[in-house]
Amino acid sequence: MTNVLSFVILQSLFCITLLPLCYSANTLIETTCEKTQFVDLCISTLKSDPRSSTADVAGLAIIAADSAYAKANSTSNQIAVLLKSATDPKLIKALNSCLDSYNSILRVDLPVAILAINKGTPKVAVERATDAENEAQKCEDSVGENSTNSPISGSSKALHDLCGILQSIASLLL
Ligand SMILES: *[C@@H]1O[C@H](CO)[C@@H](O)[C@H](O)[C@H]1NC(C)=O
Ligand SMILES: *[C@@H]1O[C@H](CO)[C@@H](O)[C@H](O)[C@H]1NC(C)=O
Repeated sequence: MTNVLSFVILQSLFCITLLPLCYSANTLIETTCEKTQFVDLCISTLKSDPRSSTADVAGLAIIAADSAYAKANSTSNQIAVLLKSATDPKLIKALNSCLDSYNSILRVDLPVAILAINKGTPKVAVERATDAENEAQKCEDSVGENSTNSPISGSSKALHDLCGILQSIASLLL
């Protein structure tokens, strides 16, 4: 919260002193996000990271990947906590399947995608983002069968959408 607040203040100062630069950064965020499937989530995610004010499209892709990583990490921690108290065998099975999906997102897909964006090989980033999106969907399907009983479905959907955003932004680099 403090971080968000200080960022907002910082950005306001930045925008007042460097209006043209701020305007063009917001324009790039908006034109980039309009090419994704989840425009609002894309804009709010990119704007919440101070790096976005000076980022190019590759930089925006990195921010999307970092946000997806943070979401996958926190959701994976949340799943581990839930597993400790879960007793329903179906729920345990679904959560374990999610943990597998999240492990490949965290250990392979997102780190490789970030590396690929930095190395200028966006095709690899698009492939990894697509895989991460599929893995997130797999988790959603396994817990989502019982949405009333699915404490992580919100996070899991958000992760899925962030991976989709990453995929679309990385595609712009092809
Ligand atoms: C991932 O989660 C762990 C456990 O909460 C935390 O210590 C770590 O800082 C997180 N890593 C990232 C990159 O967010
Ligand atoms: C869905 O939730 C209900 C109520 O908690 C439970 O009885 C049922 O077994 C669950 N179904 C699945 C597929 O997990």
